[in-house]
Amino acid sequence: MSEEVKNLEKEALVGISSAQDLQGLEQQEIFYLGRKGKLNALFPKISTLQATERKEFGEAINFTKQAIESAVASRRQELQMKAFEKLGETEWIDITQPGTKPPEGHVHLVTHTIREVSEIFGRLGFTRVRHPEVDWDWYAFEALNMPADHPARDEWETFFMDTPVDPKKGKMVLTPHTSNGQIHEMEKGKLPIRMINISKCYRRQSDVSHAPMFHQFEGLLIDKNVAVTHLKGVLDYFAREFFGEQRKTRLRPFHFRFTEPSFEVDISCGVCNGTGFLSRSEVGDPPTTYNPQPATSAKCRLCKSGWLELGGAGMVHPNVIKACGIDPNEWNGFAFGWGVERTAMMKSGISIDDIRILYKNDLRFLKQF
Ligand code: DAH
Repeated sequence: MSEEVKNLEKEALVGISSAQDLQGLEQQEIFYLGRKGKLNALFPKISTLQATERKEFGEAINFTKQAIESAVASRRQELQMKAFEKLGETEWIDITQPGTKPPEGHVHLVTHTIREVSEIFGRLGFTRVRHPEVDWDWYAFEALNMPADHPARDEWETFFMDTPVDPKKGKMVLTPHTSNGQIHEMEKGKLPIRMINISKCYRRQSDVSHAPMFHQFEGLLIDKNVAVTHLKGVLDYFAREFFGEQRKTRLRPFHFRFTEPSFEVDISCGVCNGTGFLSRSEVGDPPTTYNPQPATSAKCRLCKSGWLELGGAGMVHPNVIKACGIDPNEWNGFAFGWGVERTAMMKSGISIDDIRILYKNDLRFLKQF
C-alpha cells in the first residue's frame, strides 16, 4: 500500500520540478495537493485497511504531503527568481532616450502685454503697483474731482456693490477705470511719485471694441515743475518702444475732470505711417526710384486720418492733488490711462476684429500668440 504512496510522491516530484513557470507549478500543486487532488484521494482507502496497516499508511501520506509541499515551495522560489531575472528583458527601458515633453502653455496675450507695458515704463522709473478693483466712491469719483451728481460720472457709474455705505467714502463700486490708483498712491504721502497701476476695470458695455471686464494701465508722475513736454516725452518713448521706432504720439485737447489741461492721446497709424494715405506699394504699385514709399491718393483703411486714438492724459488737476492732502502749489504732475487690450490690438501684426474673443478661452485663438 505505501508503495502506491511512494510512487505518487515520485511522480509528483518529477511533475513539480519540470514545471516551467509559476502557472504550471500551480497546476501541479492543485493536481497533487488540492482538495480533490491525488493525495486526498488516498484517504478513503484507510478504512479498507487492517488496523495494523492504517497507522503506517497514514504516516506515509503525511510524509509524502510534506515532501510534495516543500518541493512546490522550493520550485516556486526558483521560478520566481527566473521571472524576476526575465523582467530585465521584458520591461527594458532606455534611460538615455529623451523624455516626452508635457504640453506646455504660454501666457495670455493680455498678460504678455501687461508685462511689456510695465517693463517699458519701468525703464523710465515708473514702479508697477496694484490698487483695488473694488473701491469706494471717494477713490473712483469724488477725489478725482467728480462730485456726486456730476454728469461726468454718467459714463462710468456702473457696477455698485450691495455693501454698507461708508459715511466718508460712500458706496463701493467695481472700478470703471484705474484712475482710483492715483488717489491711493498720493494718499500714501510719499513724494515724488512715478507709478504705473494696471488693474481690471468694469463697465456696462459689450461690443466688438468693448468688453464688460477689461484692463487699463494708469501712469502717474508727481514731482516739482512738471510740464506737458515731460508727458509728451514719456508717451513718445512708450509709442516707440511698444509699437515701433517710427511711431509718434499726438495730444488733442479734451476734457477730463481729473486733469487740466486734458488730452486725448493719438498714435500715428502704423499702416500709412501717419499720412492718412496708402503708399504705392500698399495699393500694389511698384515704388519709384526716387521715393520708395510715396503716398497715393488712396485713404488708409485703418485710420482714415493718419492717427489712431489710444487713451486719455493730462496734467493732474490741483483739486485732485489737494484732495490727497498734498499742496498743489508745491507739487504737480501728469497722468495718463488707457486700455491694455486696445493697446495690444493696435500693435502691428496683431489683427483682432472683436475684443471679446480675448476672453472666450478658445485655444485655437489663444495659441496664435
Ligand atoms: N480714466 C480715463 C478713462 O477711463 C482715462 C484717463 C484720462 C486717465 C486722463 C488719466 C487721464 O490718467 O489723465 O477713460
